[in-house]
Amino acid sequence: MTTTTFGNRIGGSVVDTGGSRFESVDPAHPNDVIATFPISSPDRVDAAVQAAVSAQKEWAKVPIPARGELIADCAGVLADRKAELSDLIAREAGKVMLEAGGDVQEAIDMGYYIAGLGRSSWGSFYPSELANKICWTTRQPVGVVGMITPWNFPIAIPSWKIFPALLAGNGIVMKPSEFAPLCADAFVDACVTAGIPAGLINLVHGFGDVGAALTQHPDVRAISFTGSIETGRLVASAAMANGPRLVSLELGGKNAMVVLADADLDLAADGAVFGAFGTAGQRCTSTSRLIVHRDVADVLVDKIASRVADLTVGDPTDPAVEIGPVIDTRAIDRIEGFVKEVVADGGEIVVGGARVEVDGCEGASFFAPTVVRGVGRDHRIANEEVFGPVLTVLEVDDIDDAIDLVNATEHGLSAAIYTNDISVALSAIDRIYTGIVYVNAPSIGAEIHLPFGGTKHTGNGFREAGTRGLEQFSEVKSVYIDYSGNLQRAQIDNRPPVGD
Ligand code: UN1
Repeated sequence: MTTTTFGNRIGGSVVDTGGSRFESVDPAHPNDVIATFPISSPDRVDAAVQAAVSAQKEWAKVPIPARGELIADCAGVLADRKAELSDLIAREAGKVMLEAGGDVQEAIDMGYYIAGLGRSSWGSFYPSELANKICWTTRQPVGVVGMITPWNFPIAIPSWKIFPALLAGNGIVMKPSEFAPLCADAFVDACVTAGIPAGLINLVHGFGDVGAALTQHPDVRAISFTGSIETGRLVASAAMANGPRLVSLELGGKNAMVVLADADLDLAADGAVFGAFGTAGQRCTSTSRLIVHRDVADVLVDKIASRVADLTVGDPTDPAVEIGPVIDTRAIDRIEGFVKEVVADGGEIVVGGARVEVDGCEGASFFAPTVVRGVGRDHRIANEEVFGPVLTVLEVDDIDDAIDLVNATEHGLSAAIYTNDISVALSAIDRIYTGIVYVNAPSIGAEIHLPFGGTKHTGNGFREAGTRGLEQFSEVKSVYIDYSGNLQRAQIDNRPPVGD
């Protein structure tokens, strides 16, 4: 395999192709270096921000529908390149082909959706409390947005952030995950090919110090971060230290699937397997807890175990493979640590529970899809995000107990409930405190035109995608026009004075 040397993208040029480098490797073949990227020093962030500042000034003058048309062109280029981008995702992030294609499709969909928003309402019109006066709201760009993106949706998540930020009229500096820098570069290349102006989207590669510099740069008015709770807290406090500024956080999940006794258990088993083991459990929406009514637990767990036995673990570029590797050795050590702890604490491994060797993928980190039972609700595995192919089964006696358990973790991203009782389902929707709820479908697979995000420590109130996705990249402006020709005093002229 030929290794290619990549640089940062600053001001419309590819720069920093020399100097100290890090390697992007194929998780299924960790000895294969796909490309090298600069270990940027934090001062490169300043050059990128200055480029974004000047490009943004011109971009903000472009009419919003015209911005949208250019974003649709980006989606078109992504669609033309779907096959090669899917292949890249499979090689760089280890996602199986079907899901790699889904990742690119999510970005294409987002591009066309955001383009359409360029011709939708940009605010609201309000009546005034005074005569001959009108009011409305509009949105204004924030200026330059800093983005820190993860590796697990290496094309889709940049699209969730970059397209709405562009539509809102901003310049961008992005620091992508060091596990998927080539996907980020390919995404920006598609945008440049579509005609996005030079300097509007800047990419600075490197490690945490680059992210920290971006987070604290005085000309970066908004930060959009997707990653772990621990890093999210650091990002938010650093951003606020010399802020305030807009900080939007999309953090972890400990997503539950509730299966009640009346549910279609085959449907639930299919959902649990896709929700827990799709993307090798490395989605923030992955189904991580199976909360099942005691009466049907054995039957459901058996159905899941027999489906898991049929899953093909292997090289993700093979279209027949359903479960690829986890991202690296640190990830598998962490996953294995959880599982060993469960065993030591008396938990039962129903299926899986160990590393898997795959021929032709020497040194890769494959972990068998794993189902564990018999652990207490306070156990670490029942509460902390594993981010790997491990499903923990917890048994309950009734719906109240189930919902208490769904809501018991510090995360609040996604939840699912399987039941055929419409009243129970609707009441559960009310009582489950997460950002996303599914009925008779697993906890993964959010669609791009609905808000995406979570409650509690999963986020800080912002949402990505949907119309709300614009909020983290724009500031609302309230406008009042008085055409009465007189000084009209709101709260005074239309109300009797005190004492009358
Ligand atoms: C993530 O894992 O960070 O809802 C995003 C889903 C996908 C997005 C997941 N559409 O599963």
